[in-house]
Amino acid sequence: MPVISFVSPKGGVGKTTATLLLAGELSDAGGTVRLIDADPNLPLVDWGQLPGRPDAITVVGCRDENAIIDEIERGASEARFTLVDLEGAATATVTFAIAQSDLVIIPCKGSHLDATQAARAIKLVKQTARGTRTEIDYAVLFSQIPPALRSNNQKDIAEQFNDAEIPVLPVMIYNREAYRAMFAAGGTLRTINDKGVGNMKAALENAEAYAAAVIARLRKARTVKEAA
Ligand SMILES: Nc1ncnc2c1ncn2[C@@H]1O[C@H](COP(=O)(O)OP(=O)(O)OP(=O)(O)O)[C@@H](O)[C@H]1O
Ligand SMILES: [Mg+2]
Repeated sequence: MPVISFVSPKGGVGKTTATLLLAGELSDAGGTVRLIDADPNLPLVDWGQLPGRPDAITVVGCRDENAIIDEIERGASEARFTLVDLEGAATATVTFAIAQSDLVIIPCKGSHLDATQAARAIKLVKQTARGTRTEIDYAVLFSQIPPALRSNNQKDIAEQFNDAEIPVLPVMIYNREAYRAMFAAGGTLRTINDKGVGNMKAALENAEAYAAAVIARLRKARTVKEAA
């Protein structure tokens, strides 16, 4: 069963938010999801203790670099999807998680500084793939993008990724209050639907499109792997 890791050496780019958004959409579509929280601050473990966590989503904290491979293997055998949220650093845990992944998602906020850090993450994925002699698919995910106006900075960076043939998911995650509210109120985007958060409709549409883009990417990666 597929393993998806969220990686960036830069903190605060939206890894944990993107992980939980995807978990919410996958569980809403009927899949079981194992969240492995490999950030020493354990933000998803904290989230899991709030009310509203769907039964289909289980959360496991993992602070030990020697345990991460076991946890991922257990998740992959027990849940339909395993999502690994990592800390914003380059550690052994991050490398082990990348090595176990079918897809690595690299969130990037759309500034030049973020793009440089995304490039570092891509390098790490490529080195890990070489080291393990496997294909590891990856894609950049533009995250926390203001919904009203795409900045020239972000457009420039998207072009640079395109020129360098770096895969970018075709859907970006916009900056939405609802995506912050999940961590305050508990539950997923689906369960906070009626709690008076602004512009839920746009937030739900964006989350749905994002999850569909991830699934499409995963399918493509599997087809390439099977053909190899
Ligand atoms: N799409 C979004 N819309 C609104 N707020 C967001 C969005 N993505 C992230 N945030 C907010 O930005 C902050 C950082 O996000 P998040 O914790 O997801 O990043 P991270 O990459 O996991 O950070 P770290 O490296 O510290 O683990 C949080 O306060 C979060 O609520
Ligand atoms: Mg995080």
